[in-house]
Amino acid sequence: MMNVAVIGSGTMGNGIAHVFAQHGFPVSLIDISQPALDKALGTIGKNLDRQVAKGSLSEDDKAATLGRITTFTSIAEGVRGVELVVEAATENVDLKLQIFRDLDQHAPEGAILASNTSSISITKIAAVTKRADKVIGMHFMNPVPVMKLVEVIRGYATSDEVTSRIMEISRQLGKTPTEVNDYPGFVANRILMPMINEAIITLFEGVAGVEEIDTVMKLGMAHPMGPLQLADFIGLDVCLAILRVLHEGLGNPKYAPCPLLVNMVMAGRLGVKSGEGFYSWGHGTKDLIVADRFKK
Ligand code: CAA
Repeated sequence: MMNVAVIGSGTMGNGIAHVFAQHGFPVSLIDISQPALDKALGTIGKNLDRQVAKGSLSEDDKAATLGRITTFTSIAEGVRGVELVVEAATENVDLKLQIFRDLDQHAPEGAILASNTSSISITKIAAVTKRADKVIGMHFMNPVPVMKLVEVIRGYATSDEVTSRIMEISRQLGKTPTEVNDYPGFVANRILMPMINEAIITLFEGVAGVEEIDTVMKLGMAHPMGPLQLADFIGLDVCLAILRVLHEGLGNPKYAPCPLLVNMVMAGRLGVKSGEGFYSWGHGTKDLIVADRFKK
């Protein structure tokens, strides 16, 4: 099995490391702080426990999966001898460009450099390296161990060979890869974010309340979560950042973020991670409770 490095141990990074390790790939998990890495290993352990509890994984497979993950706090050390790097650091352009410069310098010459970015241009990231043909988007969905899709994004210079290799590796992870081209929001977020934005506009204009909007989409369209709950789950700051990429990159006013979304982000109401968004979180129950602000 090829050695893989995953950069970033947050929600997406630990999920990506989990899935590669579970499917037999030795994984170097890299982050800047050891406590963040320790926390990620704890999260992966808990998520593997869910699979054990469901009977989809044995205790031995769990131990073997954890045994395949080694942690590093340095890119230079962590990418030694790897054939593939999947970057899942914070969604910040300058940070990602710096990481790709470092990766280009330290990763073996033939290694493929993939990014899990949800909306930053793969072409732009590739342009800071001397191997643009080997830079590609590998966009996993949250929660990574559960969601079947990998959106594979071809940058302007990504080669056919690298694309088919990443499609094949995604299949080895038990995922269904889908090849798309590198334009703002790719496909997943170009379609998902306008839907979420429209749900927020529908609330903002008083057409219906939080629960009503989510119920229509959950029961009427068989979505596992309504768009407002999903926005809380993704993070309202992330939704806003992606809408801005669509708005700026495509130049069409239809992508303009709803002023309510902008206000909520400015007020620090970011959804699950901040404890409140359209719903209130962290109350310790599994009930969906609409935030006070939106109660009728
Ligand atoms: N690791 C492992 N297993 C997990 C898990 C995790 N992190 N999270 C959930 N699961 C498992 C559970 O154990 C459970 O397993 P079984 O089906 O075998 O029982 C299953 O997933 C369902 O979980 P729950 O019963 O806890 O809850 P649920 O039925 O409400 O499902 C959900 C949870 C899978 C998150 C579901 O609500 C869902 O699919 N929501 C929509 C998710 C979505 O749209 N994600 C994409 C977001 S967009 C994105 O990621 C990209 C971007 O760029 C913004």
